Amino acid sequence: MTVDHSSPYDSKRFDFPIHRAECSSLAEADSAVALAEASGAQLLILRFPAQHRAFGWWLGELPCRWVFADTLVYYKRLIEGTLELPVVEGYRQRLAVPSDAPAVEELMLELFADYASHYRWNPRTDNAGRVAEGYGEWARRSVEGGQSFTFLLESSEGEIVAAATTEVQGDVGVMPLAGVSSRHGRRGLYRWVMDGTHNQFFKSGQRYQEISTQVHNLLVQKVWSRCGMVMHRANQTVHIDLRKNLEPGPP
Ligand SMILES: CC(C)(COP(=O)(O)OP(=O)(O)OC[C@H]1O[C@@H](n2cnc3c(N)ncnc32)[C@H](O)[C@@H]1OP(=O)(O)O)[C@@H](O)C(=O)NCCC(=O)NCCS
Repeated sequence: MTVDHSSPYDSKRFDFPIHRAECSSLAEADSAVALAEASGAQLLILRFPAQHRAFGWWLGELPCRWVFADTLVYYKRLIEGTLELPVVEGYRQRLAVPSDAPAVEELMLELFADYASHYRWNPRTDNAGRVAEGYGEWARRSVEGGQSFTFLLESSEGEIVAAATTEVQGDVGVMPLAGVSSRHGRRGLYRWVMDGTHNQFFKSGQRYQEISTQVHNLLVQKVWSRCGMVMHRANQTVHIDLRKNLEPGPP
């Protein structure tokens, strides 16, 4: 299935037209490139299944520059009941209300300040501050929009120290953005975020909990594995530069 669309948030953030597409066949990838070119996009952020070997050859045949931008790994677990939570003294859990949006945005700016997401692999979008802002804004929209819950941990002083935004896709509860402030790290709070979010998905009727990250982000995958989550899917990301007549060398 191709999901090909212009990306207004990315385009505004990096100040040039950007398209995104997720493809499972070469024909879909060809049409995503054609559509992005016809719309005047300068960059197509393309995802395809990691097991699809023919994409390697397809990329080599492209008449334009492209940047490999890492592998996204997806973990999930079955939701069968309520888990006992690893409660840590001095913290409590709650769900976000719209007025928490600025504090959640601030937390995400901290969590993603150095995160080597796919944008950081392309010299043209490698701007740590803007990338982090993007994740912060995404979290704020999610809390304000309230389509699905945002799970929070706060300290006894009322500071939001951990958060997980969520989306529901059929019977799957997805966690797009999650993390714990480093000032409150190494106390097992991340496990609480994972299991607390699991329990909330159970209450709202989801059958699976899913989360994803870049393959090199090993710390979170350690916790997911300990939670009994299993990697079930991997996608490659490439940035295809659609500008014409580029000089060789970095942009
Ligand atoms: C990584 C992270 C989840 C850890 O949260 P936490 O609440 O400190 O986690 P825990 O206390 O459960 O610790 C989990 C493991 O990570 C280790 N750890 C935590 N912070 C660490 C750090 N800064 N450096 C090295 N190890 C660290 C812990 O020691 C523990 O390992 P161990 O049990 O083998 O000793 C947190 O720092 C974070 O949110 N980071 C950003 C999240 C992110 O990358 N999001 C993007 C994908 S969604």
